[in-house]
Amino acid sequence: MTTMKIAVLPGDGIGTEIMAEAVKVLKALELPLELETAPVGGAAYEAAGHPLPESTLKLAQAADAVLFGAVGDWKYDKLERALRPEQAILGLRKHLGLFANFRPAICYPQLTHASSLKPELVAGLDILIIRELTGDIYFGQPRGRRTAVDGHFPGSEEAFDTMRYSRPEIERIAHVAFQAARKRNNKVTSVDKANVLETFQFWKDVVTEVHAQYPDVELEHMYVDNAAMQLVKAPKKFDVVVTGNMFGDILSDEAAMLTGSIGMLPSASLDKNNKGLYEPSHGSAPDIAGQGIANPLATILSAAMMLKFSLNQPEAAARIETAVQSVLAQGLRTADIWSEGTTKVGTREMGDAVLAALNGAQSGMTTKTIKG
Ligand code: IPM
Ligand code: MG
Repeated sequence: MTTMKIAVLPGDGIGTEIMAEAVKVLKALELPLELETAPVGGAAYEAAGHPLPESTLKLAQAADAVLFGAVGDWKYDKLERALRPEQAILGLRKHLGLFANFRPAICYPQLTHASSLKPELVAGLDILIIRELTGDIYFGQPRGRRTAVDGHFPGSEEAFDTMRYSRPEIERIAHVAFQAARKRNNKVTSVDKANVLETFQFWKDVVTEVHAQYPDVELEHMYVDNAAMQLVKAPKKFDVVVTGNMFGDILSDEAAMLTGSIGMLPSASLDKNNKGLYEPSHGSAPDIAGQGIANPLATILSAAMMLKFSLNQPEAAARIETAVQSVLAQGLRTADIWSEGTTKVGTREMGDAVLAALNGAQSGMTTKTIKG
């Protein structure tokens, strides 16, 4: 087996703590993996004066896959936009062409009661948000008009961002969504705001055109406001949700929280060849950074997704997923998913438990694997 190169980018806040656990798990797999770590986000700004230094970008470009922690901290809010930690992840997405963002929202059987919704609404929930990641208002022109470091817009009484999508951008994400639905329950909900925005009328038209090539997949269109409502009313009615960058940002947080455990959810951002960046769905949580209490499972499961989607190692991915199920079945919980009657553990203990379970996985356990 040839060596697989992984760029490890822990980032800021809890990023370093959760990444340490994922790296520990990856190393235990005895696969020919070469892990190389580089700074990104605020950590890179401190070290090198830029959130995405050339050396970090080069490492990510040369790697077979990227494992990413999280970036951001309020202390950088006053920096000019180009230097803020978030630019690291946006830059990686753009430079690596990572247009397809898979954000599964799975309600793990052991965590049904962690949701703020009634258990019957979320029990067995398994939906996949596919967010377009390199277009939309995120990358429209002009951007970054705030140049002053004191947080003001000098000499300007307005600010604007441009929402735009091109036909090829919509076509390729629509294909990804229909193909993912074929591996699941053959249903795609395309979320737009076609009643108000031209960009999203165009989106709707192009998705409808592409759908002609997938007659076996059911397609429904839904306005974003209604989708936000349906997600809390009857989330299990969804299978694959495909939407633009901005709506996808918002709806994926909502969907993740339905499961009661944003600390559990991995994500993948893929290019046209399935090379990808893998990151937990949650952020850098500076408020709990350094305390050793963050949940490392989303990052560990992101590593599993990486093994499956980009490195063609489905067995190793399944081993990790089974190990995670096993620690949950043992009743181990970090603070974010803790409830009465379960055992509260810290970040490192959780990683250690996954490691132990990797080698002694119990048989007969039903494993929730991420499909798509
Ligand atoms: C996400 C995050 C990012 C986004 C930020 C950190 C730039 O919220 O990955 O969802 O808005 O895409
Ligand atoms: Mg977000």
